[in-house]
Formats: sequence, structure tokens, C-alpha cells
Amino acid sequence: MSRNIRIRGNSKVIGTVQVPGDKSISHRVAMLASIAEGCSTIQGFASSADCHATLDCIKKLGIAVVENNQTIEIHGRGLRGYQPAKLPVELFVGNSGSTIRMLSGILAGQNFQSIVDGDASIRRRPMKRIIEPLTLMGATITATEGNFAPLTIHGNRLRPIDYHTPVASAQVKTCVLFAGIFADGETTVSEPELSRNHSELMLKEFGAKIETLRATNKISIQGQVELHPVAYQVPGDVSSAAFLIAAALLLPDSQLLIKNINLNPTRTAFLNVLENLGATIIRENITLRHMEPVGDLRIFFSELKTEKEGMVLSGDIIPNLIDEIPILAVIATQIAGRLKIRDARELRIKESDRLKTVTEGLRAMGVEVDEFEDGLAISGKQTLKAAKIHSEGDHRIAMAFTIAGLLASGETEIIGADCAAVSFPEFYELLTELCGEGTIIENPRNEK
Ligand code: S3P
Repeated sequence: MSRNIRIRGNSKVIGTVQVPGDKSISHRVAMLASIAEGCSTIQGFASSADCHATLDCIKKLGIAVVENNQTIEIHGRGLRGYQPAKLPVELFVGNSGSTIRMLSGILAGQNFQSIVDGDASIRRRPMKRIIEPLTLMGATITATEGNFAPLTIHGNRLRPIDYHTPVASAQVKTCVLFAGIFADGETTVSEPELSRNHSELMLKEFGAKIETLRATNKISIQGQVELHPVAYQVPGDVSSAAFLIAAALLLPDSQLLIKNINLNPTRTAFLNVLENLGATIIRENITLRHMEPVGDLRIFFSELKTEKEGMVLSGDIIPNLIDEIPILAVIATQIAGRLKIRDARELRIKESDRLKTVTEGLRAMGVEVDEFEDGLAISGKQTLKAAKIHSEGDHRIAMAFTIAGLLASGETEIIGADCAAVSFPEFYELLTELCGEGTIIENPRNEK
């Protein structure tokens, strides 16, 4: 049974919140802790269904994971400590592209075979981008049409490679770096633009021998170096916060304080764009934790506008706001000016084809949108009308259109809103706290 949600427009958001732990950081810390020598403790681990898929997979590989209250213990057994998952019970990643792509790097270095599979959306997402480098390193991987899950990974003794990934993808970069941990020698990976760099920072924290050459976006890692366990505190996820930030900026009289957020510059292009549009977002109490900047954000309702000629986002900024583009498109409907996004064709192969789902959803709400093969253009100050929106099983679409619903008069309905739990299980509850009872209404006629 999928859960539908109705949203009543015309409210404001007021309050102080914490959002769940960062999804990207949580995946990485769980995977690296599982191959470190000894027990790591993790606080603030993401509540996201995707990150729990990662925990399930490492448990199936024989790693003890103990969850008490706010802390998770992961009892790593070193680089050779995994046991094969008991076939035919596969490693099932659910909806999580990060789990399948990054864990495959580790599985490629094991001396056994693993089968990794996921839901229907995962089976549509391209895996050739990781199969190619892992094959060059010596693993044998079979996949549907050589590209799609389920993946059968025959691990091997890996050789180091010098790999240039054609797409700026942190999942691909991480997959190669994780495989590099097992290789005999130094593996290097470079990418066309810098994608999020949590893996590079975290590998250092675990004691890996890793170096980054910023000028060339090139990273090298020395293989066969044992990792030590860590005590890690995961900050809040700025990509989840983005939905609440949008609500606070767009709903008159809003004031919001979001505490303990990851503010890594490879993740905060969304905030920079909003600031360039005139948003009042105050960054406070910034500290460095595990080499990641963390702080609080104070957001106030703001009149947003572009320069006369509009704003174009393209090129190397795109990887640093890739997950925020659906909500940015919703914001674009409200600003004075025109926002154009190009070079974002990666959005077509996310949990849904996000250029299509965003365009269709906004058009259903009466917005004029130009859709390109690699982007969108939206002129602002458009009136949103309430509509019935299908999430297409995509968490960021469900949440972006919930915020759009808050801006529309009347009642918007999100079909399949429960997929928000993929990254932000507390989303509807938190929004109700911030907007007041009666804003989010569960549909009693919940449809299949
Ligand atoms: C992620 C990287 C991005 C992003 C995804 C999480 C990560 O994907 O869209 O939500 O944690 O490395 P790509 O690596 O495909 O760009």
C-alpha cells in the first residue's frame, strides 16, 4: 500500500529543527567501518531507508552491527573479514544507487562471488560506469545487457589502475577508491568536474594513504593498507534540509533554524545559488568535524530575484547541486527572473528521470517550463495551482512537490509520498511541526 499525502497551501514555517544524518556520509562510514580492523562507533547515522540497506548488506557479509539509541557500532573485521552472503539470499540494496555502486568496489576485492540487486528503479540505472573500471582492475562482473542489476561480482586480487571517469559521479569515484583499497599498488582516479569529496576526506580519517591533486581532480590511494576504526559523528544532511530551506524562503513570515548541518563546499552550491538570488541564509557556529565543515543555518523569508538577463547554472557547479535541482526548479517558479539549468543530463538517470518528472509535475500545477535534453528553464512569479502529483517512487520528487503544494492555493495530493523515507523518513512529521496541524493531511482513501 502506498501512502498518499494531501497538502493545504498558504502556511509558513517557524521553528528550530535537526534533519537526519547525512546520507552520503552514512553510507561511506558504514562501508569503511565494515572493513576496518575493530569496532567503530557512529553517532547521528542517517535514518534513511537507503542507509539501512547498506547496513543490511554489510550484516549479510558477516559484519556485526549493533544499534542502540543514537549510536551504531560496526565491528569491522579488516580487509579480508567479509564472509560470502548466503546465496540465494542476495545483497539487496532497495532503491539505493550509492549502496550498489560503492559496495561493488569492496566486493570486487573479495575472494568470493556476490550477487547484488535492488528494486525496479535500481534495475533501470546504469552500472556500466562501475563495471568498466572494476573489470580493468581484474574483477569479473556480469549484468543484464552488461549494464543493469542484478550484478554478479566475482571478486579477485585487484591490480591498480589510473582511471578517468567520463562523468563527474561521486559514486563512481568512490567505487574505484574503495576497490583501490584492495589493489596491489597505487590506484588513481580523476573526474571531469569535482563531485562531492566525502570519500577522500573519510578515507584519511580511517588511516588510508590517499592524496588529492585539486588542480587535476586526481586522487590516488595506496592499496593493501589496513584501516583503523573510528568514532564518527554524522552531521545533518544539507540535501534533506534543502526542502525545508525552500519552504522558509518562499512562505511569507517564515523563520527557520536548522542545527548541525554538513556544509562541505562540494554540497552547498544550492545555498550559494540562493544567496546569489538574494536569500537571507545565515551560517552560524561553523566548525570542522572529521575534516567536514558543520554548522547551523538560519533562514528567513526572502524576495528572490535574478539579474535582468536571468541566471544560468551549467558546467562544474552542476555536480555540487545535483540532488537539489528538483527543489530548485520549484523555487524558480517563485523568483523574479528566469532560471536556466544546463549540463544536467545525469538527472535523467536518477531514481526517476528527474527532468521529466519535474517538468510534468510543474506543468500539472500550471507552470510553464522549457525542458531540454540536459536541463530546464523556468520563468518566475508563476501561480501554482493545486494538483495530483505522482512521485514516481522518487523521494526527492515527493518532497519537492510537497513544498510546491505549500505554495499553491487549494489541496495538492502526492501519490506515493511514502518514498520520502528513502532519504528523509521524518519529513512529513517535521513539516507538520513547522507548519502547524492541518497543513499535511494523510489521504484516508490511500490508493495503491
Ligand atoms: C551520491 C552521489 C550523487 C548523488 C547521490 C549520492 C553519493 O550521485 O546524486 O544522491 O553519495 O556519492 P552520482 O555519484 O551518481 O553523481
